[in-house]
Amino acid sequence: MKLIFASNNQHKIEEMRSILGNRFDVVSLKEAGIDIDIPEPHDTLEANASEKAKVIYEMTGVNCFSEDTGLEVYALNGEPGVKSARYAGEGRSFDANIEKLLINLAGKADRRARFRAVISLLIDGKEILFEGICEGKIIDEKRGNGGFGYDPVFVPEASARTFAEMSREEKANYSHRARAAEKLVAFLNKA
Ligand code: IMP
Repeated sequence: MKLIFASNNQHKIEEMRSILGNRFDVVSLKEAGIDIDIPEPHDTLEANASEKAKVIYEMTGVNCFSEDTGLEVYALNGEPGVKSARYAGEGRSFDANIEKLLINLAGKADRRARFRAVISLLIDGKEILFEGICEGKIIDEKRGNGGFGYDPVFVPEASARTFAEMSREEKANYSHRARAAEKLVAFLNKA
């Protein structure tokens, strides 16, 4: 089954391909010949994910899905949350975002955080949402070179290593995106 993944993030595309496997032909925006940066103007992950999928479905008429993720830090009342990509400004710099996060957490004993991913699937014009959560903690300095975003400072529960110290396959054992994608696969298998 062909599914357009409404994302320009190469890391996310690779992660989704390895989770969805061979049964689903995951086509990136670039491969679908779509060269747009879809806005994320809303204040919930659900609304942003919905908008991204709708924009692509209206453009192509092809079944598609999108994903929006936020890092929710307990001691920061859920921030950066839906603003995770632009936490330190419109430059969307991973390093600047991590730096701001570590400054805001300095001296705080509670380092608990979670990633929450929301996938919006638009299939035959009908939308279904799937959520995936990964609980963990923020460490006080970067470790590892893999992954992207906040991966170098996020250690999932039941691991001693950051996401950036894991292979893609290993990260998928814990990750929010993998958990949401597994629900998506279960739904598609049933449908
Ligand atoms: P978005 O879903 O592309 O809007 O992601 C928002 C931001 O969350 C990204 O720019 C990353 O900084 C961060 N993010 C999303 N998923 C992950 C992940 O799996 N690991 C680390 N950071 C992530």
